[in-house]
Parts: sequence; C-alpha cells; structure tokens
Amino acid sequence: MAYETDTQDLPPVTNWLNDWDWLDDQWGENAIDIWNEIREHGPMATTERYGRAFMPVTMEAVAEVAHDTDHFSSIFVSVARPDAPRRPAPPITSDPPEHHDHRRLLLPSFSPKNINQMEDEMRQFCRKLIADIGDADSVEAAEQYTQHIPVHGICKLTGIPENDADMFRDWIYRNFQLAPRDNAVRLQVMTEMNEYIGNILEDRLANPQDDMLTFIANAEIDGEPVDWELKRGYVGLLIIAGIDTTWSAIGSGIWHFAQHNDQVAQLVAVENDDLLWQTATEEVLRYYAPVTMGRKVVKDVEVSGCPMHAGDQTLLTFPAANHDPNAFEDPSEFQIDRARNRHVAFGLGVHRCVGSNLARLELTIALQEWLRAFPNYSLDPSRKTEWANGQVRGPRNLPLLLNRS
Ligand code: HEM
Repeated sequence: MAYETDTQDLPPVTNWLNDWDWLDDQWGENAIDIWNEIREHGPMATTERYGRAFMPVTMEAVAEVAHDTDHFSSIFVSVARPDAPRRPAPPITSDPPEHHDHRRLLLPSFSPKNINQMEDEMRQFCRKLIADIGDADSVEAAEQYTQHIPVHGICKLTGIPENDADMFRDWIYRNFQLAPRDNAVRLQVMTEMNEYIGNILEDRLANPQDDMLTFIANAEIDGEPVDWELKRGYVGLLIIAGIDTTWSAIGSGIWHFAQHNDQVAQLVAVENDDLLWQTATEEVLRYYAPVTMGRKVVKDVEVSGCPMHAGDQTLLTFPAANHDPNAFEDPSEFQIDRARNRHVAFGLGVHRCVGSNLARLELTIALQEWLRAFPNYSLDPSRKTEWANGQVRGPRNLPLLLNRS
C-alpha cells in the first residue's frame, strides 16, 4: 500500500553510541546485541535524528527515568520528530495526577478474575487456528497463528469488531514503523482511527451492549462525562497496545523454541499448570521484551551522569534493561527455569502495563497449544524471518517447518 509521506531518508546507522535510530533496518533483528554493545561503553546512547534523544541501556538508568514523572512526561510516548502531532490516548499519554483517574477507569476490566475466565475461549481459539493448518508440512505462523491471538483476546474483552483486524494491523504498522519519521503518516492514521472509533462509540451510545466499549462510551470521572476525544483515545490505546505487543511476544517465543527442541521436550512433558510453563513464559518476556516507550524531558535533569535538557526526548528501553548483567545473572542465557526473574517487560512505575494479565494468559496458552501440537517444529531455512523495528519489536513473519512425526 502506498502512503503520502513527508519523511526524509536517513542513512543507515554506523555508530549506535551517538547516532542511534530505532527505525534503522539493523534494529529489529539485532537490538539485543546493539544494547549490549552500547552498555560496554556506558549507560546511555544519544542521537540527533529526532532532535536530541537519549537511549538508556542499564536497569538503573531506565528505572530512574520511569519513576521520575516530574522530569519525564508521557505526553508523547514515541521518540519521533519533535514537531510530530499528538493524540491523547490516556492513561499512557497522561501524567500524574490526571493519569490516576484514567488508569482507574480501565483497570477493573483487566482484573485477574475477568481475564482468567477467558482461558477456555482463548485455548479453543488457538486449537481452531492449529486445526485450520490441516496436514501442511510448512506454515507461515505469523499469518496463520500468532497475529490472530491478541486480536481475538482484545476484541472478546472490549467488543471491538474482530472482522476489522487487518485494518488494526495496518494502523499499527504505520503508527510504529513509519510515523516516528513522518508526520503525514501520523496524521493520516489518527484521522482514520478517530473516525472509526468515533463511529463505534456513537453506535454503543445508541445501542448499548454488555461490553467495555459501552462502558467507555458512557465513562465518567467524578460524576462528569469524560471528554469525547479522551474516550476515543482509550479505545485507540487498547487497539494499539493490545495487539502487536502480545503478537510480538508470542512470535518471539515461537521463533525461540523453533531453535530449541530440547526445551520444547521439557515443557511438553509437564502439565499446563506446572511452574516450568510460568518460568518459561516469563523468560520469553524478559529475553524478547517487545515494548520500548518514549518520554519527553520537561525539566533539566541528570540521569546516570548524563545531563538532559527540557525539550529533549528519551527512550525507556525496558528490553535493554532486561539484558543488564547488573540486574540478571547470565542475561544472555535463555533459561526456561530462571527462578529469579524481575524483568521489566511490562514497564515500571505508574504506567506499568494494564494488560499484563491478558498478555500473560494469551502468551502462555499460545505457546502451550503450539508446542504440544508440533513438538519437533523448526525454522524454515529457505525463508527469512523479518523482525519489526521501532517501538514494538518482534517477528512479523514466521516461516516454519512442522516436522510431524
Ligand atoms: C506482551 C505484551 C505486552 C507488553 C510487553 C506490554 C508492555 C507495556 C509497557 C512497557 C507499558 C508501559 C508504558 C510506559 O511506561 O509508558 C505498557 C502500558 C500499557 N499497556 Fe501494555 N504490554 C503488553 C500487552 C498489553 C495488552 C494485551 C494490553 C491490553 C489492551 C495492554 C495495555 C496497556 C495499557 C492500557 C498501558 C498504559 C498503562 C498506563 O499508562 O497506566 N498492554 N505496556
């Protein structure tokens, strides 16, 4: 699909320490190596490609930024062109004190009780996708499996129409991978999303249903109706945050285990409620954490000895913190039984992920059903896995051989 753009082509990165770029072609596949190499030199990298922007790579520096909402604002959570247009998508784009009310509004829908009752539904859905593969010997697992699971979960939970999934993925692709360099794309995606979401919320006002969309359409804070633009923002955030995040985690897990059939054998030998499944899922989240956020510096500050000035931007590189040897023993080893694993894939501080219960449920079930169905599967050496770069990193295609016995 062709889009009108006002982007400038930027040269490939040759120095990640002072010219990093999360849209560089090397990022998607090699980000972990890139962060590890930067950490050898110090806690922070910089770039001028989006105005001045920092990239902390240690747990200490990432935690410092994440917990400091006085100096770091979430008004714009993507490191992008400084003149990029913004759309409110609370709670992720709001700062304290307003942030609290928006978050409190969404939290109950994502409670463990609400999410756990989706287990059967999600398991049946995964089994159906696997059954649809029939007796094929090879498969494009992103197309036929991983990308559908989070869409099903978020649509079941909220009432958002699942039939429009291709459009959601197209918005997400343009928003994360083109928009940071290109304001025209950002505006176009915002306009399309506003119109679509406005229409479904209007529909719920006219035809209330027992779903989260109806709740959002009528949302109030302190007895006052929430602004319409913010209501559209809630739904936009659920679509953007709920789909390719978990799709990336599931895809990374399946990509990893395709190359580690010994670990698959250990996992399929135990029951679904065995602790090993839990530790293995958490290790996928630590090792392949997909989500990197942005913050705007609003007051001059120093982080890990690095001065930052109001107007600068910084990444919150949660995935890099997950590979910091000062925070994890042997971080480069993927240990399915890692006992101590305080990873920060879901963030830190007031904005910690609202959807973590849903993400964990979907990831665990998706892996259990896939690994049990195809315990000897492997990567297809004749086709390359493409990794998404930018804010949400993960395999966007996944060619596999099923190696049925
Ligand atoms: C493996 C999957 C996921 C990962 C790794 C992930 C990661 C994150 C991270 C790192 C943040 C913190 C953002 C920040 O500090 O600015 C966040 C926030 C958030 N996530 Fe997730 N997420 C995942 C899945 C989901 C799902 C399925 C949903 C459901 C819609 C969701 C909804 C949210 C929301 C609403 C916030 C904003 C919370 C706030 O600002 O208070 N996420 N997520």
